[in-house]
Amino acid sequence: MTARNTPHDGAETARRLPASGAPRWRRTLLALVIGSFGVLAQAQDTAATKTAAIASANALATEAGFEVLSRGGNAVDAAIAVGTALSVVQPEGSGMGGGFLAVIHDAATGKNTFIDAREMAPQAVSEKDYLKADGTPNRDTSLNGPLAAGIPGMPAGLAYMAGKYGKLPLAESLRPAIRLAEQGFRPSGALLRSIEHKADVLRRYPASAAKFFPGGKAPQAGDLFRDPDQARTLKALAEKGADGFYKGAVAKELVKSVRAAGGTWTLADLAAYRAKERQPIVLDYAGYKVITAPPPSSGGVAVAEMLNILAPLDLKSMDEAHRIHYLVEAMRRAFRDHNEYLGDPDFVKMPLDMLLSPYYADGLRQSILPDQATKSAWLPSVQAKAPGMHTTHYSVIDKDGNMVSMTATVNTTLGSSFVAGRTGILLNNEMDDFALVSGQPNAFGLIGGSANAPVGGKRMLSSMTPSFVIGKDRLAVIGSPGGSTIITQVFGAILAFIDGKDAGQITAQKRIHHQFLPDRVDIEKGSDIPADVLAKLKAMGYEINDRESWGNMNVVVWDKVTNVKTAASDPRNPDGLGKVEAMH
Ligand code: GLY
Repeated sequence: MTARNTPHDGAETARRLPASGAPRWRRTLLALVIGSFGVLAQAQDTAATKTAAIASANALATEAGFEVLSRGGNAVDAAIAVGTALSVVQPEGSGMGGGFLAVIHDAATGKNTFIDAREMAPQAVSEKDYLKADGTPNRDTSLNGPLAAGIPGMPAGLAYMAGKYGKLPLAESLRPAIRLAEQGFRPSGALLRSIEHKADVLRRYPASAAKFFPGGKAPQAGDLFRDPDQARTLKALAEKGADGFYKGAVAKELVKSVRAAGGTWTLADLAAYRAKERQPIVLDYAGYKVITAPPPSSGGVAVAEMLNILAPLDLKSMDEAHRIHYLVEAMRRAFRDHNEYLGDPDFVKMPLDMLLSPYYADGLRQSILPDQATKSAWLPSVQAKAPGMHTTHYSVIDKDGNMVSMTATVNTTLGSSFVAGRTGILLNNEMDDFALVSGQPNAFGLIGGSANAPVGGKRMLSSMTPSFVIGKDRLAVIGSPGGSTIITQVFGAILAFIDGKDAGQITAQKRIHHQFLPDRVDIEKGSDIPADVLAKLKAMGYEINDRESWGNMNVVVWDKVTNVKTAASDPRNPDGLGKVEAMH
């Protein structure tokens, strides 16, 4: 984000870590590239190639993507393979029981498009299901079990992408995930820790206990972990497309198990689900085109607003304290609007023309005091929730220049912890991303806006911000998990890329976050912002919060002059994510 905030040797540090000395999880966080589909560069966080590049949070998923490329698939097929493999090997972050948002670039036509496979509320959604008898919010029903789950979007979204933009049949792209589920895999440390963290909730539901405690015991490092029920469901999807999930035997089992455990899903809810193709948000910043997520994500609007606020400023000529001051004030203003206006575009009228207008940003910029923090309390106040923290992102560029930036989620770690009967499908807890109880604080002590109130068939607001940044000579595919911090991570990554940083430096750079409320600046622990800069920020009126690491960014950068594509995975320790999760 700033010169000091971006350790010059960030990527080098990542590369220098010896595989043998690195903890086990460290070796699974890979950015892999493959040249002529022959050589996998593993056990490092960055790798470069002249053909195709994939960065994801799990090596087995990245390999699944390359396997599909090697069989003639394109970036879309590879993203489908990565996403379905993650459903098996990284269920704590995303899966077939959840949803995703993706931007796609078609190299042949130059077209950019956006796929909305966000979950939606079942028709029978009711505020009373999320209230305790005393009228206070019931965090258990909004986060755990079937009432917490929206109708999944991932299977429909993948089938839609394969049919319209893939080169291979869906069944081909699902093959690696089916094999992983049938033959088994060695679970990552992050998965083992997630199972331990959610053990009490998982054990409440027999199918969840059967899946995550095979033989009644928690899996150990080195065990082979199989998921035959999910393999069967993936095969139904492979054979019948979306109907294999949303209709027929799988749909009946989903509905039966959800209703038996107190949920409200119906067969009609499942049959009504459609993935939607939408126009991405496109804006110009510093000579680059930024292509990013529109509603039902709040991320693209917020990123656009922040970049528009900064556009005429000469950040480079500012001292570091003032540079951070302007970044934080842009974040504050964008998050205020995110809280007030945004929701599902099919249900809510949003003033997008205003929010995306440079003239609107001019007004916001003028409200920034040159040497003083604005207090959030001085701005018209709308409080909203910070969405969940556990998600996953993958970035793909194929040899022809097709690109996919895809962020997928089941919301918080292991979603609702509810596995739906014999389907093997772990359901999301995305209902908590709605402002579920009007006028009542949510899990984060905050109050949501009416634009994001739950209604049957409506999609809950997301922060997922899959993005492309396209310049004349270089481009980047960017995204990260991390709830509301996704937006500021992507914002920081865009600025770093435009500043000339490489993929490794972008993922490694220390992060800064402000989200209007709480009114404080989160600065990542270990940041090298000097004490005198922090003192200046405090003197300007900022509350500084030294915060554990967050995010798990996966980036691919393509230098078109040298034709080198570099993939980089986030060097942060997933233990850091575990600590973020504990903030719930
Ligand atoms: N569930 C996290 C998000 O969509 O922002």
